[in-house]
Amino acid sequence: MTTRYRLIQLLADGTFFSGESLGQQLGISRAAVWKQIRSLADLGLDVHAVRGRGYRLSSSLELLDQAVIQQALATEFASCLDSCEVMQSLDSTSDHLKRCVVPVQPGRAHACLAEWQTAGRGRRGRPWVSPYGSNLYLSLAWGFDAVPGGLSGLSLAAGVAVVRALRLIGVQDAGLKWPNDILFRGGKLAGILVDLAGESSGPCSVIIGVGINMNMPANVAGTISQPWSDLSEFQGRISRNILAASLLNEMVRMLREFSCQGLTGFLDEWRRYDVIAGQTVSLQTGQGTILGKVCGIDEQGGLQVSSQGSIKSYHSGEISVRLAG
Ligand code: BTN
Repeated sequence: MTTRYRLIQLLADGTFFSGESLGQQLGISRAAVWKQIRSLADLGLDVHAVRGRGYRLSSSLELLDQAVIQQALATEFASCLDSCEVMQSLDSTSDHLKRCVVPVQPGRAHACLAEWQTAGRGRRGRPWVSPYGSNLYLSLAWGFDAVPGGLSGLSLAAGVAVVRALRLIGVQDAGLKWPNDILFRGGKLAGILVDLAGESSGPCSVIIGVGINMNMPANVAGTISQPWSDLSEFQGRISRNILAASLLNEMVRMLREFSCQGLTGFLDEWRRYDVIAGQTVSLQTGQGTILGKVCGIDEQGGLQVSSQGSIKSYHSGEISVRLAG
């Protein structure tokens, strides 16, 4: 492990360390400690330097621990996981899996988590802000044989899996905004990106990437281009490792269910978590912008919008909720 990551491990508990003691433990000079400390800002970490006391992180970090995650996996799901890597830094956990594990055998899975993503990807080509150690960045690659009804509903089913995982660890009021944004207290808490390798009608591999904001550091929060939220009010009560395991369990459970029955078995639950049904929205589609009232989702997962006296289903697009008036 590099000096930089050993330094983060030392600082992770959030208490003060003098430059001298850090230098001793890392086997480097105090000047080199100072240089390393300054470089932590590039990872999105916020370090306080106080004369006479030393250095500390602005808040403590629970670092990812592969052993803790694997121990918390349900045996029935762990048995189909061929690998579960925990990395310090990657461009993107989804791109890493795409390079390294595709094609995946039907019914088998590979998982990858990273403390930091240097090129985290969001939907519609947006970046996903991925500072070190404070949020979750997780991807799961899964092999499908053939899926009843195709893969079009998979991203909605993945949203249900993320809400289930959050509920299981005590976050009860997370909801879904079509197609698969996870909202919490008015902002986007988590996002899902589904990448497909192969043909959606035959054997293929999918990579589902999930980012969950847990404790977004103030120094990167300003770079996020949409209203967001995080789980910072639960800080200390929700373990990143346990949430990661809960997410893996729920994703594998969902993928098995989805392989047999497609989206059908998830529709009722998706509708229960829907936070935009009944709202007036503008939907940007490839053909233009539609203004209308959301009437929920259809059996294929399309968004039903009532506009100018008729209801139509849309299968892609970006929603903005319009404020009354
Ligand atoms: C969205 O824009 O709503 C989707 C965000 C998905 C982010 C996750 S973080 C883990 C995985 N790796 C990536 O590069 N993106 C996804």
